[in-house]
Amino acid sequence: MCGIVGYIGQQDAYPIVIKGLKRLEYRGYDSAGVAINSGNNVNVYKRKGKVSDLEQFTLNKDISGCIGMGHTRWATHGIPNDVNAHPHISMNGKFVIIHNGIIENYAYLKKKMIARHYEFKSETDTEVLANLIEYIYMFGNVSAEVAVRLALTKVIGAYGLVVMCIDEPDKLIAARNSSPLVIGLGQKEYFIASDATPFVEYTDQVVYLDNQNVAIISRDGIQIKTIKNDIVNPDIKKIDIDINEIEKGGFNDYMLKEIYEQPKSITDTMRGRVFQNDNYISLGGLLDVMPRLMNARRVIIVGCGTSWHAGLVGEYLFEEYARVPVEVEYASEFRYRNPIINSEDVVIAISQSGETADTLAAIQLAKKCGACVIGICNVVGSTLSRETDAGVYTHAGPEIGVASTKAFTTQVTVLAMMALMIGKNKFNIKQEQYHELLSELISIPTKIEHTLQSASKIEEVARLYKDSSNFLYLGRGCYYPVALEGALKLKEISYIHAEGYPAAEMKHGPIALIDDKMPVVVIATKDKGYEKIVNNIQEVKARKGIVIAVVSEGDQTIASMADHVLEVPVFNTAIGAILTIIPLQLLSYYIAIFRGCNVDQPRNLAKSVTVE
Ligand code: AGP
Ligand code: GLU
Repeated sequence: MCGIVGYIGQQDAYPIVIKGLKRLEYRGYDSAGVAINSGNNVNVYKRKGKVSDLEQFTLNKDISGCIGMGHTRWATHGIPNDVNAHPHISMNGKFVIIHNGIIENYAYLKKKMIARHYEFKSETDTEVLANLIEYIYMFGNVSAEVAVRLALTKVIGAYGLVVMCIDEPDKLIAARNSSPLVIGLGQKEYFIASDATPFVEYTDQVVYLDNQNVAIISRDGIQIKTIKNDIVNPDIKKIDIDINEIEKGGFNDYMLKEIYEQPKSITDTMRGRVFQNDNYISLGGLLDVMPRLMNARRVIIVGCGTSWHAGLVGEYLFEEYARVPVEVEYASEFRYRNPIINSEDVVIAISQSGETADTLAAIQLAKKCGACVIGICNVVGSTLSRETDAGVYTHAGPEIGVASTKAFTTQVTVLAMMALMIGKNKFNIKQEQYHELLSELISIPTKIEHTLQSASKIEEVARLYKDSSNFLYLGRGCYYPVALEGALKLKEISYIHAEGYPAAEMKHGPIALIDDKMPVVVIATKDKGYEKIVNNIQEVKARKGIVIAVVSEGDQTIASMADHVLEVPVFNTAIGAILTIIPLQLLSYYIAIFRGCNVDQPRNLAKSVTVE
């Protein structure tokens, strides 16, 4: 995980690096550090904690210089402390390095380096790499670039890294394998970062570094090579990120901003794709793979966390409308099995970031087996978007809060569009029904806006239960994944234990947990399973449980038996299920705020899980 920023140019590097690290803090916030080349010296400052702690620490220190780099860490090897913080300096002080990822054979390499009398200060895998580069440089009598490339041929694992060499002060060397790195191209200045947000105000011209590629960057230009020394022609792309999208825009937190952005995000997801008047959905990114999609023997959806939950809703939508068998798998499990896949299968990989290591590994496996691999992804230019056969961007705009909100609803929107498009092409859906489904889809943003108006009521309910130690979330059918997602949101940001369960499974075990202290959130909108879910609510009430029910507007039946009802507008098709997550996002948000938690940067988590 972790965020990396580098700068080389004419401006002061420190403010650019610090501002960039703040934008990347969603990726990790265990410690932060910078290395700034002052002309005479490379000054390294690092501190456990947030970027703001580092800023305090550097007050009155020499931060001058036009070449610099910084790191915000999500610890994998060694606890979060000052020593393990990046940058790491090699034993003889020749190299300074920041790294995102895991060097898997670090223990083996470390043993070898110790045998060569190298001493280590930190517990990190990164320091091993710093020393290995230095060893090759000093004893091989080669340039810094050659030392970096040769060292990387010895390394197994994931890295996004930036290296400074004290003897070659006018350049930065960057390299990537699995962990993302993008280079921003300015006028005699260059930026390096884990994603493009740190430098959007300076340039929109970027080069995404490919796996096992090294970039040698000076003020005069960049050169890209493979680690085996083959020259690579930089593929310059133009990015389109609005600076306002990555700021809080008047909200206290990114998470709340992103919850409120959902009507706009979903509208953007559908823009130019859903044509209600013509009864038509067009997903341009899938054109090339349409025959394979239409004839798929089976669809396998892979993802992690919230993206996996979106996949579970997708399973329901695909089976309902596209009438194709669907399996949904945790990417992390899928990749370690020996799944039976062939060229008649379609694998849909879902990922907000497009950088989740487990999901990327699942794609590789599926491709090797000959399946057609389709991505659903938010980040344009991400690894997932580049490694799939075809795909659909969610266009949700940058999601910075660690807890996914708009990513989920836009992913489900894409899955709904795909299911409807396939269903119509296969003649599974009649014209009038299709028209009704498209109307439902198009009405979602307005209905979410309406739901968001009950925020103050949800806040009151949150206040009542902020001190609970456990929550149960129940739903049937496509509301079961919504229950899972509601529970995940609460766990992630408030640290309250919460479980999502299919409502009918409650009687097979979890019902034993229910007493008068147990809030049970039930998704109970008027739909196919309504009568059954009313029975489940009765069962909870009979054990004195506290019922917080998400209901269709005006539902008096459940209002008379539940302790609290959170209303959503009435909807008529499974697509409307997206609406029911909105009150649950707000409920977890307010509970976390009342408990004094940092909702944007919950403990132990990071936005982008680029390690296995
Ligand atoms: C969501 O709230 C979580 N932070 C997490 O489960 C996330 O959904 C998961 O890590 C997958 O991320 P991705 O969508 O970027 O692949
Ligand atoms: N493995 C390195 C460490 O633990 C880098 C982790 C990261 O990506 O932040 O320091």
